[in-house]
Amino acid sequence: MPEDPGLLEFALSAARAAGAVLLEHFETELAVATKSTDIDLVTPADRAAELAISSRIMAAYPDHWILAEESGRITGEASSDPRPPPGVLQWVVDPLDGTTNFAHRFPHFSVSIALVDHEGPLLGVVHDPTRDETFFALRGRGAFLDSPRNRLRDGRPQPLQTTSTRALRLALVATGFAYTRATSPTNNLPEFNRVVPQVRCIRRAGSAALDLAYVAAGRLDAYWEYHLQPWDIAAGALLVHEAGGTLTRIDGQPWDLRHGDLVAAGAQLHPVLQAELASARAVHLTHPHGQPTCPEGHAPRP
Ligand code: IPD
Ligand code: CA
Ligand code: CA
Repeated sequence: MPEDPGLLEFALSAARAAGAVLLEHFETELAVATKSTDIDLVTPADRAAELAISSRIMAAYPDHWILAEESGRITGEASSDPRPPPGVLQWVVDPLDGTTNFAHRFPHFSVSIALVDHEGPLLGVVHDPTRDETFFALRGRGAFLDSPRNRLRDGRPQPLQTTSTRALRLALVATGFAYTRATSPTNNLPEFNRVVPQVRCIRRAGSAALDLAYVAAGRLDAYWEYHLQPWDIAAGALLVHEAGGTLTRIDGQPWDLRHGDLVAAGAQLHPVLQAELASARAVHLTHPHGQPTCPEGHAPRP
């Protein structure tokens, strides 16, 4: 829990300010450029929203470090570990999570802001400006949804809890596919093919931060993806953890912010989904061009 209670109010206000910037651009501008690949997009809105956040942080907390998607390292020291050294606090910012949606005027995107210490996310905010929903979590203090439509009778934000779903057949799950999917051997297709027939349904909604917030809120039972960046998931991972969910790497190893693959789910469903994903991966590594097939459709011998 941050020692300064103002940090949460600050993060909520910065996320909402960035969300307002995104909404201003959403109806008016379509200047889309590309980054790492021709499907990895960036717009002036990404940069304007990031500036709205980073300028606020630098003014309010000049000694904090800032790592943000569009600018990279803004303040602090370069490191391959997104968790700062002991005694340092670092903001990890995705000013527009869901840029592809945004660029196509598909109204599902978010602002993700996390404050991270040497142990991991301490505070996380995921703000959806189109629905005016703000999901936030504080380490050790729970996860909440603040929205004009969802407040408790006394005006407090609604506490969040992951689902208790046990069976894939009853689960609504989400995933995503990285911008490197045309070239990466870990393109998530074997895992997707394994899970789709087993679940109630699947979503690829296009904002990892909102996928995780929805797992925390019990709107989704689970989410997994490969090749994520710290700014995609730092806030959302804390939301899931604080809402009682389980997060691991896809092979079942413990997850932390250094790892870009994760499976997040309600505690009962997590081991079931993780086992399916790990098994699909193992089969794919053994038979990278598909399962061995037999003539005339006979099943392969065991
Ligand atoms: C992307 C979104 C998407 C996920 C990608 C991310 P961006 O972030 O979160 O849902 O599948 O892996 O890179 O580029 O829109 O900030
Ligand atoms: Ca992102
Ligand atoms: Ca982004």
